[in-house]
Amino acid sequence: MDVTEAVKKRKSIRGYKPDPVPKEILEQILDLASRAPSAMNTQPWEFTVLAGNVLETVRRSNVELLNSGSPPNPEHVVVDWPRESIYRQRQVDLAKQLFKLMDIPREDKEKRAKWMERGFRYFDAPAVVIISVDRCLSESGPLIDIGAVIQTICLLALHFGLGTCIEDQGVTYPEVLRKYARIPDSKRIIMAIAIGYPDWDFPANKVETEREPIDNITAWLGFD
Ligand SMILES: Cc1cc2nc3c(=O)[nH]c(=O)nc-3n(C[C@H](O)[C@H](O)[C@H](O)COP(=O)(O)O)c2cc1C
Repeated sequence: MDVTEAVKKRKSIRGYKPDPVPKEILEQILDLASRAPSAMNTQPWEFTVLAGNVLETVRRSNVELLNSGSPPNPEHVVVDWPRESIYRQRQVDLAKQLFKLMDIPREDKEKRAKWMERGFRYFDAPAVVIISVDRCLSESGPLIDIGAVIQTICLLALHFGLGTCIEDQGVTYPEVLRKYARIPDSKRIIMAIAIGYPDWDFPANKVETEREPIDNITAWLGFD
């Protein structure tokens, strides 16, 4: 698959077939993805890959904490955009599209809660990659490198017929991952990537997110 095709094809997958992903494929993806650039080649990323019983336990514990009203405790805060902003508006647009596809009326609190649970279950993907960094690194320093490796993983996954969803929901309760995925306190847990074979019949997978035209976000100088 050529690079432009992969970039166009990648999208967040929120419904998966139960088929397991062979460890050898995940190894190849991570091995290749570690070719991603990083500041001064520091390679701050660390991967914890979950499947099988461990993943089931993590899913269950995440959902238990969510439903018990436990306050979120993320070690890397993603959701902090101003309420009256284009960023918030884009979030609302996405939610509206997903709820429409999933037939979740705005006022149906139960269905909305069930949808929220799916995120905390990693959308029932058969495998999950948790990305962490050592706490000796600054909080923001490694994030650009982490972004690069995450996108590289997502693009490589396509090569193997796999889909992905980058997820901060999946690391909302780091205590669960520390306990069952044995990620020590010395590591800051940044992000999760759900990974598996897409179920193309799952309605939310039909989502088509928009992008701002680059004319609105790009300044060109010295091209006249
Ligand atoms: C840092 C980050 C965190 C995200 N967290 C979630 C999440 O918790 N749940 C979810 O359903 N999607 C999550 N996403 C996926 C975004 O919603 C998605 O990338 C965006 O809507 C663009 O859609 P696309 O990936 O289909 O192109 C996250 C993406 C990023 C980059």
